[in-house]
Amino acid sequence: MSKVELFENERASGYDQFVETWIPNYHAFLDQLPNLLRTAVSQDLLLVGCGTGNEIERLVDQRQVWNITGVDPSPEMIKQAEEKFEGYDNVMLIEGLVSDLDIKKHYGAATLLLVLHFLEDNGDKVALLQEIGKRLLSGAPLILLDITGNKEQVRENLAILRLLLHDGIAVEHVDQRLHRIANELLYVPEERLIQLCEDAGFERPVRFFQSTIYMGWMIRKK
Ligand SMILES: C[S@@+](CC[C@H](N)C(=O)[O-])C[C@H]1O[C@@H](n2cnc3c(N)ncnc32)[C@H](O)[C@@H]1O
Repeated sequence: MSKVELFENERASGYDQFVETWIPNYHAFLDQLPNLLRTAVSQDLLLVGCGTGNEIERLVDQRQVWNITGVDPSPEMIKQAEEKFEGYDNVMLIEGLVSDLDIKKHYGAATLLLVLHFLEDNGDKVALLQEIGKRLLSGAPLILLDITGNKEQVRENLAILRLLLHDGIAVEHVDQRLHRIANELLYVPEERLIQLCEDAGFERPVRFFQSTIYMGWMIRKK
């Protein structure tokens, strides 16, 4: 089984505030989801590592009615999503891994936002992409957002990220956070990400978004 980065306690309860503070332009990325998903090949969406449901929020109230399945292994994250989307018949939330999902059910599109950089590149990253791929219809898009770059690119973009953060975050918090990203998160260079997607049975990814260290990709299942 692949590694799970368990979000719990304050990390889970403070998550929505955390993304707001530390990921400038994340909202702009999320707001693009309804348009990006015009390329879905069916109404069934698989949102992997959906956490508290930031991506679901952008999709539930659209004119296009989606059947949304969100899956996440962290009980405290999925519980917050359950509270947000209680009463929505078209949202199903599952506490678990993609590999727990029915292999016979195929989705018309998927998202994997801010998850892959927690997994080791020792087979875990490619295994997660493969598990997603097995559950997608041919031609279905996977929208991926991840910290991407080689050490030098990430170091340079972290300096720019520092400029974009709100005034008022204590300098030592900024230092700690940027140090953790640079030294502890398991991002890979763009060429490696492309290779992983191709090895997992996807077409060559198309990068359409970048905000400092965060890159967004559209990747089609072959
Ligand atoms: C940074 S949060 C992103 C949440 C949400 N996608 C968003 O953009 O707000 C990362 C999420 O990945 C989940 N996660 C960790 N390991 C995972 C795995 N192996 N498969 C799927 N999700 C995983 C965590 O539980 C957590 O909720």
